Amino acid sequence: MEFPKIQISPLLVGFWFLCSVALVHGWGNDGHLTVCRLAQPRLSEAAANAVKDLLPAYAEDDLGSLCSWADRVKFRRPWSSPLHYIDTPDDLCTYQYTRDCKDADGIKDRCVVGAINNYTTQLLTYGQESASQYNLTEALLFLSHFMGDIHQPLHVGFTSDRGGNTIDVHWYTRKSVLHHVWDNNIIDTAEERYDDSDVTELIDAIQTNITLKGNYRVKTWEGCTTGNPPCPDVYATESIKAACNFAYKGVTEESVLEDPYFLTRVPIVYLRLAQGGVRLAATLNSIFG
Ligand SMILES: *[C@@H]1O[C@H](CO)[C@@H](O)[C@H](O)[C@H]1NC(C)=O
Ligand SMILES: *[C@@H]1O[C@H](CO)[C@@H](O)[C@H](O)[C@H]1NC(C)=O
Ligand SMILES: *[C@@H]1O[C@H](CO)[C@@H](O)[C@H](O)[C@H]1NC(C)=O
Repeated sequence: MEFPKIQISPLLVGFWFLCSVALVHGWGNDGHLTVCRLAQPRLSEAAANAVKDLLPAYAEDDLGSLCSWADRVKFRRPWSSPLHYIDTPDDLCTYQYTRDCKDADGIKDRCVVGAINNYTTQLLTYGQESASQYNLTEALLFLSHFMGDIHQPLHVGFTSDRGGNTIDVHWYTRKSVLHHVWDNNIIDTAEERYDDSDVTELIDAIQTNITLKGNYRVKTWEGCTTGNPPCPDVYATESIKAACNFAYKGVTEESVLEDPYFLTRVPIVYLRLAQGGVRLAATLNSIFG
């Protein structure tokens, strides 16, 4: 995210900051809740115990309840803001770690892939003496959140439109921006139409599809071609491809997006939420042994 370099009133900066932060937070609450709720029942006993141990008591062993924590602390920790996404070169539809994983100041590793690697490395110290240098509760909450974000196609979007944040569109009759369509609008419309506006019904429907034999290639999602999960480079590449093939496709400034767009994109949203959940579980299972 770029901050204005010209001199303007602090009030204006504050207002601008509030607006932009509201727009760049990744899957909305329901998307993140879905990823964490899909993941938790898939945990091994060791991973489930570690998660329970690391979660604060008030979370009552519900990872989902804190899956959006990383969005809520963004105001207080502006350094964490670039860790929610990756900007890739406009129109290339490719992602490369060394080229793209940096923040607006060019500091390397400061993107969602670098953050997933960072918090995975920290969590691997669980149960060891070296764990004391980290706050592993925060590491778990960051990792769980960023595993969701990296599966949101527009979190691996183009640089100049900030992952669709500057593309004004209409979602049916309401004003929106393309990024928000993928964070929230598609999920909200799906819930209203198919799930009695109840996110738990959406989560159950996706979970059913994950467990349905032959429906998804779940085993493939869980692994990496080399090493153990996570393999965030793979997830980022999938996201920029989906961004080009589905999110940006056919959309221009002031496009009116309604049924033809919704009906063809909602399967992609379901797929990315399912992959996020399956891979978060596979990652935690791998980390905690
Ligand atoms: C790694 O985690 C630490 C602790 O939260 C944080 O200060 C640092 O900015 C993180 N770096 C990346 C690239 O995620
Ligand atoms: C770890 O982070 C959590 C959440 O920010 C905080 O409540 C807790 O006090 C921290 N633990 C330590 C030991 O600093
Ligand atoms: C579940 O799978 C069916 C068949 O592939 C698909 O039509 C439906 O949209 C999926 N629903 C969810 C919530 O994933």
